[in-house]
Amino acid sequence: MKVVTTIDEVRAVRRRQGTATLGFVPTMGYLHEGHLDLVRRARAENDYVAVSIYVNPKQFGPTEDLSRYPRDLERDLSLLRAEGVALVFAPSDAEMYPPGYQTRVLVTGVTQPLEGAKRPTHFEGVTTVVAKLFNIVRPNRAYFGQKDAQQTVVVRQMARDLNLDLDIVVCPTTREPDGLAMSSRNKYLTAEQRPAATVLYRALRAAEALWRGGTRDGAVLRDAMRRVLDAEPLARVDYVSAADPLTLEEWEGDARAGAGALLSLAVFMGPTRLIDNVLLNDRPADE
Ligand code: PAF
Repeated sequence: MKVVTTIDEVRAVRRRQGTATLGFVPTMGYLHEGHLDLVRRARAENDYVAVSIYVNPKQFGPTEDLSRYPRDLERDLSLLRAEGVALVFAPSDAEMYPPGYQTRVLVTGVTQPLEGAKRPTHFEGVTTVVAKLFNIVRPNRAYFGQKDAQQTVVVRQMARDLNLDLDIVVCPTTREPDGLAMSSRNKYLTAEQRPAATVLYRALRAAEALWRGGTRDGAVLRDAMRRVLDAEPLARVDYVSAADPLTLEEWEGDARAGAGALLSLAVFMGPTRLIDNVLLNDRPADE
């Protein structure tokens, strides 16, 4: 496995790979089983796999957790080595945003609701760094987790709008045995908060059960999630949403027939903000 920190080194490796296919997993490090599932899928579908490890300052708001975001490069590298990754790109801030850097990549519509409403500069930071990483790594396919549902919609929109020549592959959320979605931020949870954090998935499952029983009213689905969350004293709701999975517009009445639904939520457990979602199709009950 080659570990490089400069764009020139990535390009040199990529040149040597010739016409072989490359799957790319962009990460901010502190890897968990969810990241490794993306790597495994990328390995199964491509000749080589590249992973980036970069905590991108541009996607953190001024009051967010950039300085304390967990990092453990040596552990990350040994996990990636064991997965047969060919290339790791771990650049510095100066390599990604050198003095004089001036460009931002901004997707408009689908960045506005949900996470975008709560974290106004977040997606511009994500699309800026992801566009740069795509240009540097030049993958055939890039792999993202469904856990960051809106990010997948935003990145797909950017790839479509900018005619990027790659496939965006979205992989299912990897969960702990008790249902908590894997996230590097789970590390922040205290021993008391950790079991309570299962409330996110329990709330989603409660609304999912209603959906499977035929409920299509967005307000009813949101109420069902909120009721479960409100019963957990350690949880503070940031938002709950039942939205169109493509436009991310909130269902104010019944979901459009055949559209499916994205149920999503953001919840504070103490200072730690967790997100989760389930994507529902519109097949009849019990499927
Ligand atoms: O999902 C993440 O970890 C980040 O948003 C990404 C895609 C690596 C960009 O920094």
